[in-house]
Amino acid sequence: MSCKSALIAYYSRRQASAIMARAALSRSFFSRCFLIPLSKLSHRALSISCLLSLCLAPAGMAQTGQAANADKVRMAIDVSQPGAKIDRNIFGQFAEHLGHGVYEGIWVGTDSSIPNTRGMRNDVVAALKALKVPNVRWPGGCFADEYHWRKGIGPQRVVTLNPNWGGVTEPNTFGTHEYLDFLDQIGAEAYLSLNLGSGTPQEAAEWLEYLTTDQPTALGKERAANGHPAPYKIACLGIGNESWDCGGNMTPDYYASQLKIYSRFVRNFNPAQQGKEQMLKIAVGPGGNEPRFVEWTEEVMKAWQKHQWSWDMHGLSLHNYTVVHWDKKFASVGFGETEYGQILKNTLEMEGLVSRHSAIMDKYDPQKKIALVVDECGSWYAPLPGSNPGFLAQQNSMRDAVLAALNLNIFARHADRVRMANIAQMVNVLQAMILTDKEKMVLTPSYYVYRMYVPFQDATFVPVTFDAGSYTHDNITLPRVDAIAAKDATGRLWLEITNLDPNQSIEIEATLAGSTAKSAAGETLTAPKVDSVNTFEAQNAVVPKPVSATVQGGKLTLKLEPKSVTVISIGQ
Ligand code: AHR
Repeated sequence: MSCKSALIAYYSRRQASAIMARAALSRSFFSRCFLIPLSKLSHRALSISCLLSLCLAPAGMAQTGQAANADKVRMAIDVSQPGAKIDRNIFGQFAEHLGHGVYEGIWVGTDSSIPNTRGMRNDVVAALKALKVPNVRWPGGCFADEYHWRKGIGPQRVVTLNPNWGGVTEPNTFGTHEYLDFLDQIGAEAYLSLNLGSGTPQEAAEWLEYLTTDQPTALGKERAANGHPAPYKIACLGIGNESWDCGGNMTPDYYASQLKIYSRFVRNFNPAQQGKEQMLKIAVGPGGNEPRFVEWTEEVMKAWQKHQWSWDMHGLSLHNYTVVHWDKKFASVGFGETEYGQILKNTLEMEGLVSRHSAIMDKYDPQKKIALVVDECGSWYAPLPGSNPGFLAQQNSMRDAVLAALNLNIFARHADRVRMANIAQMVNVLQAMILTDKEKMVLTPSYYVYRMYVPFQDATFVPVTFDAGSYTHDNITLPRVDAIAAKDATGRLWLEITNLDPNQSIEIEATLAGSTAKSAAGETLTAPKVDSVNTFEAQNAVVPKPVSATVQGGKLTLKLEPKSVTVISIGQ
């Protein structure tokens, strides 16, 4: 099959997935919202669960929203009821050998005129450091299942192909050591994705021995000869990628047998990672709303429940992209309010997906030992005109900033189960944090959301209750606001509020139970239009600005601009 037909086949499968996803979604909407009388739901339950479903209903169904559309939205924040820790790993990134994600985006080579440190561009490294990126998943994606690590080590790198993504050549100049050096430079941990599709357990086991042994084995000595005598720390190991599709189209049962073999034999020998700091093994999990993925989660979790001493896993991955039509993807720029609403409605399906798979996991793992790892998510739009369609290059607008916030809030509300997530992808691909063009670099609206959310890393979830109200445009109804709160290690309270309404500002009045706060200050990200973007020429069209809020008598008040993401710090 040619690269082009492989890509077309891949995209058609995606389209089929999307159709089935919509069918599954309507079924779940009816069961959740029509079988439970609204009057029987608690205020909190209405806010954080069913309202996200109501927004998916056709216009007119979300009747409760109309009454709540008064200018003021009241919230109640209860600091005395702390929840789960919001794991910093939910702010993870994904860097695949795809388009200009790695080459040009991160790696320019030591001979480049672009300022770099050992080949890594300094501007990108500095920008990522400010995000406190906890982990970077690498080398794919679909690419991982055709990656052979030996081609990317040592002085002689062989040129191979990248058949998944544009059919271009892969120089292998950015390999294992470069990846780990890059992680060191930005201060992130490793999340390696193994080749389960076209590799062997022996190849994977040797990669891990090469990386982690402190013994004078041939592989350990080879690593030292290649410049790294000390064993590397590999925090997370992905055992395959989308093994139900581009990773080998396996049945759940077949995959579970492979999982056991790789989990058993691909060992981490680093002495520092034998106890509590052990490497976390992430199994392939579901990939969207299709019914087959329910079976997938069931089968993998069932296998784990019966697991013996010889193998284990610590996470189950979930992939879900925000796409309305796989065969006719939306433009990333130059769109209007209708496409804004459709995309946000689509992204809110993440809530149902996470809830559905968490519920299955609860059956087999009530103690929540296994994390749900959303290691691919984000918007997927049409390729930019003139770009190689296999490079997945897209712009990033104010809509993506709102989308990013909504997804992070869903993960935070499920913090007891969702303990890791990776947005796709870090630089120049899909919903990127950073775009580059030769020596130029620009930070996207999504980048600023991740930067504003830094205080939520490892903070403790604090419940916020509110009536989200609704915003309707062109038969699409969305919640008008979304919010999360958390307390950081110093005891400081953080509140994030998203105003989804692109036209109306909102007055927020929040009661702060259990807090003696006296002041509040923060930042807000908004823009003139739903499709406002930052470009290489106009870098500051969508950047955070300071926002003021008042705290008086245990009440916080502030005004939210239309289509905005706001993070407030509340303290003494
Ligand atoms: O992120 C792009 C691709 O999307 C990944 O390679 C694959 O895992 C997913 O289908």
